[in-house]
Amino acid sequence: MCGIVGYIGNNDSKEILLKGLEKLEYRGYDSAGIAVLNESGVSVFKEKGRIADLRSIVDESVMANMGIGHTRWATHGVPSKDNAHPHQSATNRFTLVHNGVIENYDLLKRDYLKDVNFVSETDTEVIVQLIERFVNEGMEVLEAFRKTLSLLIGSYALALIDRENQDTIYVAKNKSPLLVGLGNGFNVVASDAMAMLQVTNQFVELMDKEIVIVTKEKVTIQNLAGKTISRDPYTAELDASDIEKGTYPHYMLKEIDEQPLVMRKIIQMYENDQNELRIDQEIIEAMNAADRIYIIAAGTSYHAGLVGKQLIEKVAKIPVEVHVASEFGYNMPLLSEKPLFIFISQSGETADSRAVLVQVKEMGYHALTITNVPGSTLSREADFTLLLHAGPEIAVASTKAYTAQIAVMAILAEVTAKSRNIPVDFDLVHELGIVANAMEILCDSKELFEHISREFLSVTRNCFFIGRGIDYYVGLEGALKLKEISYIQAEGFAGGELKHGTIALIEEGTPIIALATQENVNLSIRGNVKEVVSRGANPCIISMKGLEMDEDSFVIPEVHELLTPLISVVPLQLIAYYAALHRDCDVDKPRNLAKSVTVE
Ligand code: M6R
Repeated sequence: MCGIVGYIGNNDSKEILLKGLEKLEYRGYDSAGIAVLNESGVSVFKEKGRIADLRSIVDESVMANMGIGHTRWATHGVPSKDNAHPHQSATNRFTLVHNGVIENYDLLKRDYLKDVNFVSETDTEVIVQLIERFVNEGMEVLEAFRKTLSLLIGSYALALIDRENQDTIYVAKNKSPLLVGLGNGFNVVASDAMAMLQVTNQFVELMDKEIVIVTKEKVTIQNLAGKTISRDPYTAELDASDIEKGTYPHYMLKEIDEQPLVMRKIIQMYENDQNELRIDQEIIEAMNAADRIYIIAAGTSYHAGLVGKQLIEKVAKIPVEVHVASEFGYNMPLLSEKPLFIFISQSGETADSRAVLVQVKEMGYHALTITNVPGSTLSREADFTLLLHAGPEIAVASTKAYTAQIAVMAILAEVTAKSRNIPVDFDLVHELGIVANAMEILCDSKELFEHISREFLSVTRNCFFIGRGIDYYVGLEGALKLKEISYIQAEGFAGGELKHGTIALIEEGTPIIALATQENVNLSIRGNVKEVVSRGANPCIISMKGLEMDEDSFVIPEVHELLTPLISVVPLQLIAYYAALHRDCDVDKPRNLAKSVTVE
């Protein structure tokens, strides 16, 4: 979702801001803009569309040592040049970029800004107009900024510049992510570290309701009451090459191919010197103290959570419920006496999950976050964190994070089981090694998946995924992958559920992708395939070695039956990738979607 960058220093800011915005493109956006300030005043450039469109309108001759930039994912008002950020106050003195949603913006307009002519439909413009109003009434800029923040209800990450002051960027944050980066003779602001790795790897985390006064020499963090807060910077352990595509045409393909490596990295990161898997003792104690685990997540992470439930229940014997984050807050089930909450989130910034985390922490419960991003909001605010070690995931469609989430939950389940003296009849390190090798075989079979994709999906408007048990959960993920990047309407169903309604949608040629990796339901899922085939469906069966039959389109290598999702999802990821490619879709940046969903 929206991304923010800012720079103040001795160099020309335009290219640093534009490059920063390019690194934030993966988050999803529909317009972009920058504002730079020099002795002649503020120059604002903004455009609907891609950063490349913005680049084409930026006046190269304007030189300025400070500026702010923004990628906008529309919430209030259509994607347009007028609604794109930066926004300016009535006299153009103040210029602001904002990520988040101001819930009371209409009320603020009515109460404070009746006479102001608004040029956009955004909630953001209210903020910048309020600041100017309070300054016009005689307040100092910082005081007006603070007063404005005290009136806002909702989420924000903000960067503000003042035409009358070429020395300062004012920054504030509440619920939306924002970091300050430190340099020698310059400082920067960014929604995430990747945006500014080009100039620094030293970052300071900001907490909710903090204000930061950023000059080229100094960064001063204050709370809303004006009290100065000191905080040490951290080094972002990211390699700039991690976020490059290299020779790959798309990040998604690169990230699919990285999955075997990620499996091996996870083994390495969670193994001790005796080659045993280990997890912090306090996390294992929290698992053992729980009478029920509640997994909270969204999208692909929710699908990983469904597989995690099977792993934790079958291996560690603790009951687990899995909930969609955006529902849980309003529709909370009756909780057990000693719940433990597990938040699964690739980005660690998903607003729906964060809202639940805040709620359950207020209720006094323990929370564990499983995330790919160290220092992310969900990681900071939970009691414990387990990292995915998957490396940055840039494509909007999540692939390697899904398999990493499942692998980390398998490790959590295994280590917990052993701590409870529950016998585990497999060696997980060995099994994950087999998974990594099997993934490699699948990644080397791309031509076949391209062919399957062409054969089954080139002319269709819809597609159904079916499976039973754990295969059903993978089917849900396969359907999400296909719909989000190829725009083919795709749904996942439990094999036995089709005949209760959905089978009415089957017509001549409707593609059905069926998963058959579980011995106990192999015959039943094949029965379900027969039911749809006799009504005209075009089936693609993906089975596992040992369970295969003549009619199967692809047989995946054999892995432990609890770990099959790690393997069976790979063909579905590749089929979705090629379907999107064949339809000329923007694979890495599908329409309407954002990588990091930071509004509820
Ligand atoms: O960062 P998170 O894992 O919390 O994100 C949750 C979903 O927004 C995410 O998984 C989304 O569904 C992906 N685009 C799916 O590919």
